[in-house]
Amino acid sequence: MQGVLIKHLGKHVGEEVTIQGWLYNKRSSGKIQFLIVRDGTGLVQGVLVKKEAPELFDLAKTITQESSIKVKGIVREEPRSVGGYELAVTGLELISMAEEYPISHKEHGVDFLMDRRHLWLRTPRQNAILRIRAEIEQAARDFFHQNDFTLVDSPIITPAACEGTTTLFELDYHGEKAYLSQSGQLYNEASAMAVGRMYCFGPTFRAEKSKTRRHLMEFWMIEAEAAFFDHEDNMKIQEELVYFIIQRVLERRRQDLEFLGRDISKLEAIKLPFPRISYTEAVELIRSKGEDFTWGQDFGAPHETIISESFAAPVFVHRFPAEIKAFYMKPDPADPRVVLGADLIAPEGYGEMIGGGQRIDDLRLLEQRIAEHKLPREAFEWYLDLRRYGSVPHSGFGLGLERTVAWICKLDHVRETIPYPRMLYRVYP
Ligand code: 4AD
Repeated sequence: MQGVLIKHLGKHVGEEVTIQGWLYNKRSSGKIQFLIVRDGTGLVQGVLVKKEAPELFDLAKTITQESSIKVKGIVREEPRSVGGYELAVTGLELISMAEEYPISHKEHGVDFLMDRRHLWLRTPRQNAILRIRAEIEQAARDFFHQNDFTLVDSPIITPAACEGTTTLFELDYHGEKAYLSQSGQLYNEASAMAVGRMYCFGPTFRAEKSKTRRHLMEFWMIEAEAAFFDHEDNMKIQEELVYFIIQRVLERRRQDLEFLGRDISKLEAIKLPFPRISYTEAVELIRSKGEDFTWGQDFGAPHETIISESFAAPVFVHRFPAEIKAFYMKPDPADPRVVLGADLIAPEGYGEMIGGGQRIDDLRLLEQRIAEHKLPREAFEWYLDLRRYGSVPHSGFGLGLERTVAWICKLDHVRETIPYPRMLYRVYP
């Protein structure tokens, strides 16, 4: 039996309904018990009056936190109550009595909660984050679908690096070396030559030695690649995507944002187009804040934070020095020291959320770059084919889902943005 979802109670005012879920919390005044029930779509308070139903009242007294229950009751509007509705309880059934629950309603340390992540996910705060994450994923899919990008999945097991060899997770592939994917990009370029505009969305792996609030070993990347898109087209589609995602979350998950205490006006203030600054301008900005920084250096977390805090909207930093970027980035014809790539830096101190750019479409130059980066040429033969058979200008990007969720929800750390975070010292549960 399905019952009614708590989020739909508003459609049943005055009716007797059954909800199924878990006992989140309980309060008693001696003659009245308040049962706060959760079902994953919301919370509702059930009110049980002793003299009206003494047997149910006694049963309720025995039910422990997180026991699974079925509650029957009449729905009434109650603005002061959580969710805005209440149930006048007329029936109560215990499905399974929970043992003493380790996560109480008091504060717990992060390690304690992380060790119990499988249970921590049940709390309303984690529920809100999971729903916002799902909304962002759905929004991205809808955006690409509406803009003629075809979903083409990329492989997880790959024979070569995409983003440098230092962060590869190696596998024994029946006696051969293989790696977990760092990015679907190289395959995406092939797919774009097949379908024109494509996107993929899947898990991505980086054996990062970084223990920061922005790094995971396993994260989800939404990547797109489009034939005939130049660097400018690429930035435009990225900002439209991010704007679309924000509008969607504001429209559909406002309550969850409010629950998390997000300052919503900051998201509402974001307008198109996003500001764009060159790497060289970013270097000047960093120096103007008193930081020592040499042109040619890559940004570290503190530098990204400076850029991030200098703008109210996400900002593109474009035209990085070629040496600090991946082998496939197309040099700027106007200044070949820099490449036609951009990072999108989220505001409010969140740092890089998208990396992307225009790709080298010339066979000779790409061969040269593969050699300069000391990459195994054989593993890239198929990739070079894309420049042999009908090469075209093309561009693409990858948006890190967890960093986007962290920013939109304004969370301190990416560990809460993914159900089961894989971090430097954590692979449990
Ligand atoms: O800038 P990155 O490395 O770009 C690429 O992998 C390109 N091949 C994508 C493409 O053009 N198709 O990574 C893209 C984004 C980053 O901006 C960041 O949001 C996220 O992926 N990211 C991480 N997120 C969490 N933990 C990590 N260790 C991450 N590394 C990158």
